[in-house]
Amino acid sequence: MAYDVAVLVGSLRKGSFSRAVAENLATLADDKLALRIVEIGDLALYNPDLEGDAPPEGWARFRSEVSGADAVLFVTPEYNRSIPGLLKNALDVGSRPYGHSVWKGKPAAIASVSPGLLGAFGANHHLRQPLVFLDMPVMQQPEVYVSKVGDLLDKDGKLANDDTKAFLSGFLAAFATWIGKHQ
Ligand SMILES: Cc1cc2nc3c(=O)[nH]c(=O)nc-3n(C[C@H](O)[C@H](O)[C@H](O)COP(=O)(O)O)c2cc1C
Repeated sequence: MAYDVAVLVGSLRKGSFSRAVAENLATLADDKLALRIVEIGDLALYNPDLEGDAPPEGWARFRSEVSGADAVLFVTPEYNRSIPGLLKNALDVGSRPYGHSVWKGKPAAIASVSPGLLGAFGANHHLRQPLVFLDMPVMQQPEVYVSKVGDLLDKDGKLANDDTKAFLSGFLAAFATWIGKHQ
């Protein structure tokens, strides 16, 4: 059976390149992986005061959708050489209440995306820092820095470049192996 992979996208923008890459990854995945995007745009900013009997509805939905997954794939742009606050908030929401983190032990992988030349390297590596603390085994190779993403997608948001598709297919195959080792 395919591993169930929760995909978190670090952008809310309608024409998001990151989301387009995430959707292409879902299409490229073979029968070993089933990718589903878990929405994070409706999560209230994390505030411990809101825990208790009735935490915000979005938090419960999000925690349950990540908890049920075998692994997590992050697809993110870079904001000011780090990860967007949207994504950090999702990490924080999933990490609490204390002792009930949804992240612990879940294998993870990162694809960072940028219209620029650096492939969101800063975001990719900043994201690795909290994932270490959250006790997620994060795949180290192959690294994925999708640079000049605007040149790689056609007008419908589909990857038009065969080399990129082959590279990302290899990334997904490595991730399936990684999940098998770390489940
Ligand atoms: C607040 C903000 C900060 C940004 N900082 C960076 C940056 O540090 N590095 C970078 O490559 N692009 C940066 N960008 C440009 C984004 O890479 C670009 O807007 C990209 O399209 C965002 O991803 P998306 O298409 O998935 O929304 C920034 C954009 C915004 C809105």
